[in-house]
Amino acid sequence: MSASVLLGLQWGDEGKGKITDYLASQAEIVLRFQGGDNAGHTLLIDGKKYFNHLIPSGIMYDDKLSIIGNGVVVNPATLVKEIAGLKENGISAKGLRVSEKCHLITPFHIALDGANEMRKGSIGTTKKGIGPAYSDKAARRGLRFLDLLDGDGGFQRYESAAKYHSFVLKEYFGIEPPDIQDSYDKIMEYLNILKTYICNTEELMFEAYEKGTKILFEGAQGILLDLDHGTYPFVTSSNTVSGAALCGSGYPLGGVKKITGVFKSYTTRVGDGPFATELFDDISEAICDKGGEYGTTTGRKRRVGWADIVDLKRAVLLSGTTDLAMTKADVLCGMEKVLIAEGRDSANKPIYKEFEGWGEIIQAGKYSDLPENLKKYIEYIEEQLGVPINIISYGPARRQTIER
Ligand code: IMP
Repeated sequence: MSASVLLGLQWGDEGKGKITDYLASQAEIVLRFQGGDNAGHTLLIDGKKYFNHLIPSGIMYDDKLSIIGNGVVVNPATLVKEIAGLKENGISAKGLRVSEKCHLITPFHIALDGANEMRKGSIGTTKKGIGPAYSDKAARRGLRFLDLLDGDGGFQRYESAAKYHSFVLKEYFGIEPPDIQDSYDKIMEYLNILKTYICNTEELMFEAYEKGTKILFEGAQGILLDLDHGTYPFVTSSNTVSGAALCGSGYPLGGVKKITGVFKSYTTRVGDGPFATELFDDISEAICDKGGEYGTTTGRKRRVGWADIVDLKRAVLLSGTTDLAMTKADVLCGMEKVLIAEGRDSANKPIYKEFEGWGEIIQAGKYSDLPENLKKYIEYIEEQLGVPINIISYGPARRQTIER
C-alpha cells in the first residue's frame, strides 16, 4: 500500500515529466490516469531529449511497468508512433501495459475538435480530439479498445459512432468528414500492433494494492485545468485532481500515501482563460526565451506570469498535496527582482510581494549551495502553502535536481 500521486499545480507544463522520471526510479509501476496526447513531456536523459505524449515516463527504466490507465483517451496512431520512436532509441517498450477500457480517439474526434476551435468563443484546445472523445465516453457512444478487439460487432460499433460524427461535421460545421471504412481499417492496423500491450490493468492494480507494490501515478495537465475545479470553461475535459488517479486506474483510495504537487517558480498557461499574474512586457519575453516556453504538443508560445500563492494554495487543497517540487528555479536567475502574488485586492487584482533577485546557480549539489535570495523565495512559498518543498529542479537534466 504505497502509492503516490504526482500532479501539476498550475495550468500544466510544470515540468512534471522530469520529476516523474526522477521519482520513477523509486517506483515499480508508473501509471497515467487521465488526459491523452494533449499532454507532452520532455525528458533530457544522457544529453538526449525525449518527447512523450502518452507513454508514462517510467518507460525510460527497463525494469518497471508503465501503464496507461482506463481514464486516458488514446489516439492509437500517436501511441504506435511513440512506441516506434522509443524503440529507435534503444528503449524497449516491454514494460508498457494499456487498459482495454481506454477510450479511443478517432479521426472524427480530431476533426470535431478542430471544427469547434474555428468557432467564435472557442477556448484554444490542443485540437487532439480530447474533448470530443471524453464527450462520447459520457454519452455512452465511446469506443474502448475492447469494443473493437473483442469478437464480432466492432465495425458496427465504430460505424454507428462515426455516422453520428459525420452528421455533425457535415450538417452543423459544413465540413467533409473522414471516410468511415478507411479510418476503421487504419485503426485496426494500429490495434493489431498495440494488442500485445492491451490488457485488464484493473487486475494489475488490485494485485499491486494487495502486494504493496510501489506505484507512481503520473498526472497530466494541471489542477487549474480540472474539468470541475479549474477555470471552466477554459479547462481540459478530464479531472486532473488527485482523486482522478483512482477513477482512472481502479486503484483503491486507501493505498495512496503521498501526493507530490509540482509547480514552476513562475506561471505559464497555453490556451485562453483567466491568468491573474500574466505579464505582457520584456520580462515575459525574457522568461519565455530562457524557459523555452513553447508547447511540447502544439508548439504554441506559452503565456507567462509570476507565481501566484492564491492559486497555488487552492491547488494544494484541491489535491491534498503532501509535498512539493519546484521546477525551473534556474529560469528566474539573473533577474533584478522577482515578484509573487500574495493576495488579491478588492478589485480581485494581484497584490505582489517583491524579492531581491539572485545570481546563477553554479554546481548546486545540496540546498545550502543555492543563492541566499532564492532560498528566501523558496522558504516563503513553503511557509505560505504549509507544505514542504522537498525537490528543487534547476535545469532539464536528472543531475540538476536537489532533494532536501
Ligand atoms: P484540450 O485538453 O486539448 O481539450 O485543451 C483544453 C485546454 O487545456 C487548452 O487551454 C489547452 O491549451 C490546455 N491543455 C491541454 N493539455 C495541456 C497540457 O498538457 N499542458 C498545458 N495545457 C494543456
